[in-house]
Amino acid sequence: MVQLTLPKNSRMTTGKTWPKPEGATNLRKVQIYRWNPDDGKNPSLDTYFVDLDSCGPMVLDVLIKIKSEIDPTLTFRRSCREGICGSCAMNIDGINTLACIYGMDEIKGDIKIYPLPHMPVVKDLIPDLTHFYAQHASVMPWLETKTNRPAKEWKQSVDDRKKLDGLYECVMCACCSTSCPSYWWNGDRYLGPAALLHAYRWIIDSRDEATGERLDDLEDPFKLYRCHTIMNCAKTCPKGLNPAAAIAHVKKMMIERTV
Ligand code: SF4
Ligand code: SF4
Ligand code: FES
Repeated sequence: MVQLTLPKNSRMTTGKTWPKPEGATNLRKVQIYRWNPDDGKNPSLDTYFVDLDSCGPMVLDVLIKIKSEIDPTLTFRRSCREGICGSCAMNIDGINTLACIYGMDEIKGDIKIYPLPHMPVVKDLIPDLTHFYAQHASVMPWLETKTNRPAKEWKQSVDDRKKLDGLYECVMCACCSTSCPSYWWNGDRYLGPAALLHAYRWIIDSRDEATGERLDDLEDPFKLYRCHTIMNCAKTCPKGLNPAAAIAHVKKMMIERTV
């Protein structure tokens, strides 16, 4: 289990405790990080009580129930509800994960929910991912080719396609990068596990013709080499991916091309 620290702007205060719903017999206490940039107050931890007998099984169901029935000001991102869009990433019970695929039955006792750690917060559970997305864009996450475009399609053998397994499934949720101590301290220059996983995904794509440029760009004391194989990224990835292994492959390619 990856235990993580609070978000950057966390001078926490005791928040509001909302009343228990009347007549409910299967109550769960849920504490949620709240921060509104417009009210001038410090962040707080608000306490809610949710009737699990009238709620879906996932943490996202609990958040939606709170927003719909108790506190409409609670703010969080979500879209697909299927672990596909990556937008509902947050820190639940000390773990960076996707709220829509994290079951309430996986959590013992009271539930604490924070935004992804070590990121600026936009509001409540919403982190500012502007820099994270810019780093992703910097690795050119698309097919780069130099030869003429084929009449129909860029072909790839079955074996070469298999090399992308464990990479293409990334949903850019940022759970890994925000669990990485190296990214916490050097996130301005270290690309972090998510962007580096995507870099490797295109480096090893047999159809791509910019492998040299891609490796040249990563040959930098900070962009790649700040990974110290701490492995938080692989432990926390809600899609079961292993960014640390992808980073290790890139480092190996760096060595191999110099010998
Ligand atoms: S293995 Fe590398 S990228 Fe993953 S958490 Fe550790 S330092 Fe960060
Ligand atoms: S590697 Fe996993 S944790 Fe990291 S962004 Fe992709 S899906 Fe999220
Ligand atoms: S809502 Fe899309 S991944 Fe959770």
